[in-house]
Amino acid sequence: MEIIHEPSVIQRRCESIRCGGATIGLVPTMGCLHEGHLSLMRRARVENDVLVVSIFVNPTQFGQGEDFDSYPRDLQGDLVRLEGVGADVVFAPRAESIYPKRYGTFVEVAEITEWLCGASRPGHFRGVATVVAKLFNLMKPHRAYFGQKDYQQTVVVRRLVADLNFDLTIAVLPTVREPDGLAMSSRNARLTPDERRMAAVLYRSLRHSEERIKGGERQATIILDEMRAMIEAQPLAQIDYVALCDSETLKAVDRIEGPTLAAVAVKFGATRLIDNILIPTP
Ligand code: PAF
Repeated sequence: MEIIHEPSVIQRRCESIRCGGATIGLVPTMGCLHEGHLSLMRRARVENDVLVVSIFVNPTQFGQGEDFDSYPRDLQGDLVRLEGVGADVVFAPRAESIYPKRYGTFVEVAEITEWLCGASRPGHFRGVATVVAKLFNLMKPHRAYFGQKDYQQTVVVRRLVADLNFDLTIAVLPTVREPDGLAMSSRNARLTPDERRMAAVLYRSLRHSEERIKGGERQATIILDEMRAMIEAQPLAQIDYVALCDSETLKAVDRIEGPTLAAVAVKFGATRLIDNILIPTP
């Protein structure tokens, strides 16, 4: 497994892989890898000749007062996990080589970034779109893999790929969950035992929305109130948002009529968790 830190070096390496006729699968990550990431890598491993993984805690997608400094990092542990899934190349750049002095170009995806996590974390998706565009330019992968847990991010990345004519396929894979339903996330490691126990309510509330829709309820406000009540019953949970949205536009819906995204963002102390499920047309 090759470990590369410099953008110019990964660019040359990927170019020579492509020129040799091999396909590249990219899994972009911020490290502290868990089973969710590894499931993306296993898929990328079988669908491509060369598996490239990037590990970069991207400063531009964290706002003032967010958890950039405390975001979990474990490069040595990650390298062991990457050997285990058969990664070929790891790109782990320093922040200064991705954003050198006088760096001034950012990618903004309009509209779909204005609500849900975009409303709570202004500038977040500008940072994500910028770094993802840079990674795609550096590596020119044939396929790139993302998890459904960050559903809005996958919609933003698909929009970016279509709008900027990137020649690659985006694959979105299901969320991997703990036995109690909690979506795997690097941030779970920061929960206290009490917070961790209560955090299972995110998935329970999402499943509740699905059951209510399957059972015939069509009024979003009724379902949302029930979800909020479930979450608020956990004393350490602070709701950021609870939403029922059109799964394509991500706009909030009043009546459930088509495929719906149920999405939640909840803080436990300093740790903000997100989760979602897609509910097919009732
Ligand atoms: O989902 C993540 O880990 C990050 O947002 C990503 C896509 C690697 C960009 O920094």
